Amino acid sequence: MAWKPSIDLRGPLRQRRANANPVSLHHFLPSAVADMDLQGLQHRRILLGVSGGIAAYKACELTRRLREAGAEVRVALTANAARFVTPLTFQALSGQPVRADLWDEAAEMGMGHLELARWAQRIVIAPASADVIAKLAHGFADDLLTTLCLASEAPLAIAPAMNHRMWRHPATQANIATLRTRGVAILGPEDGPLAEGESGPGRLMEPQAIAAVLAQQESTARANGRLGGVRVLIDAGPTYEDIDPVRFLGNRSSGRMGFAMAQAALDAGAQVTLVAGPVHLSTPPGAARIDVRSAREMREAVVAAAVEADIFIATAAVADWRPQQASAHKLKKGQAADTLSLIENPDILAEVAARANRPFVVGFAAETKDLERNAREKLARKKLDVIAANEVGADRGIDTDDNALHLYWNGGQQMLARAPKPQLASALIDRIATLYASRRDGR
Ligand code: PMT
Repeated sequence: MAWKPSIDLRGPLRQRRANANPVSLHHFLPSAVADMDLQGLQHRRILLGVSGGIAAYKACELTRRLREAGAEVRVALTANAARFVTPLTFQALSGQPVRADLWDEAAEMGMGHLELARWAQRIVIAPASADVIAKLAHGFADDLLTTLCLASEAPLAIAPAMNHRMWRHPATQANIATLRTRGVAILGPEDGPLAEGESGPGRLMEPQAIAAVLAQQESTARANGRLGGVRVLIDAGPTYEDIDPVRFLGNRSSGRMGFAMAQAALDAGAQVTLVAGPVHLSTPPGAARIDVRSAREMREAVVAAAVEADIFIATAAVADWRPQQASAHKLKKGQAADTLSLIENPDILAEVAARANRPFVVGFAAETKDLERNAREKLARKKLDVIAANEVGADRGIDTDDNALHLYWNGGQQMLARAPKPQLASALIDRIATLYASRRDGR
C-alpha cells in the first residue's frame, strides 16, 4: 500500500525535485522544511495530544518548536504516553499545566476539559497510536484525549507512529480512511527504520515537518478565513485627557479586549488597523497600529481610517470629558478647583455610524447596572449594527484577563459566557462575520 502525505508539503519541495517520490520525502524533508515559514503559528492556541509509543519523546521537540514559533501549547497525555515521558517534562517545555487524566479534580477546578476543548484552535496528536486512531474513528470518549477531540470543534491533525504491520493492517487503514473523510489531516507516517529494528512506513513525521504543516494550515485558514480580504478598523484602550503637563483624566482600560479583537480579526483573515490609546501591549503581528493619546487624537485617526474600513469595532474606553483648557504649567494646590471645568469629547462611534458611506459598525457598552436596557438604548441612539455589552467594575470586564459579553442587534441577541478575552474575541468576530456577510449580501 503506497503511503501518500495527506497534506501537500511538496509545494516548496517541487522546485527542488520535480519528480520526487512521496515515499522518499522524509530523506530530504528536514532540510526542506528548516527554512519554511512558521509565522502562521504565532499566537495560535494548539492542543498537543500525545499517545503511547516510543516516538512520544519526539513530542517534546514538537512542543519546543511550536512554542518557538509563537504558539501557545497545552499538552494532554494518554495514560500510556505518560509511561514514556513524564507530564513534568511537557509542563516545563510548554510552560503550562499538563493534563493526563479526565478525572483530575484539581485540574478540573482550573481549566476543565470542556474549557480546554473550547480553548484549542487546533488539535494535533503526535504520535497517534493505532489505538488512539481506532478510538477517534469510532467516536470513543473513554479518556481525556479522545473526550477532548470529540468535544472540540477545532481542526484535528494526527501524526501516526507505529509498527509498519500495524500501520498496513486493513483495520488501521480503514480507520485512517474514515478520519480522512471527516477532514482530519493525516501527517505521515514516514517510511524508514523503526524502533523494533525493522523498516517500513510507521515512523513519526519529524517534529519540524509537523510544525511546518501546521503553520501552512494556519496560513491557509487565515487566507480563506471568514473575513478574508475584509478591512477591519478597531479602536482600543483608554484615552488620556491632559490636565497639565503631569496629570491627566483617564480610566482603567488596559486595551486587552481590543487587542484580542484585533488578533481574532487577523485570524479570520481580515486586514486590521488598530488605533490604540496609551496601553502596554505589543501589536498583534500583521496589524497596522496607530498610537494616540487623547479622545480628539483617537477621533482624528479613526475618522480618517474609517473611509477605508468595511467594519469598525469600537472597544475603546474613550473619556467622555476633557478639561476645557489643559494648563501649560503644573497646577498648584488649590488651583484645580477653580481651573478644572470639563467639556464633552466627541463621540467617535456615533460620528462614524452617522456617515453616509459607513462601515458595518460594532460598539461596546460598559455598564455597571441595567446592562440590557442601557446597551439597547446605545444600539438605537448611536445607530449601530451590533453592540457588545459588558459589566464593568473593580474585578470585572475592565483591566481583567477574562470577560463576558451580551450581544444585541436588531432581530437577535447572544450571550457569550465568561472566558479569557482572546476566546471571547474569536466568538464575537465569528458573530460579526455572519452578520456582516448577511448585510453585505442583502439577506
Ligand atoms: O481594555 P480592557 O481592560 O480589556 O477593557 C475592555 C473594556 C471594558 C474597555 C471594553 O470591553 C468596553 O466595554 N469598551 C467600551 C467602553 C466604553 O467607553 O463604553 P461606553 O458605554 O461608555 O461607550 C459606548 C461606545 O461608544 C463604546 O463603543 C465606546 O468606544 C464609544 N464611545 C464612547 C464615548 C466617546 N466619546 N466615543 C466613543 O466612540
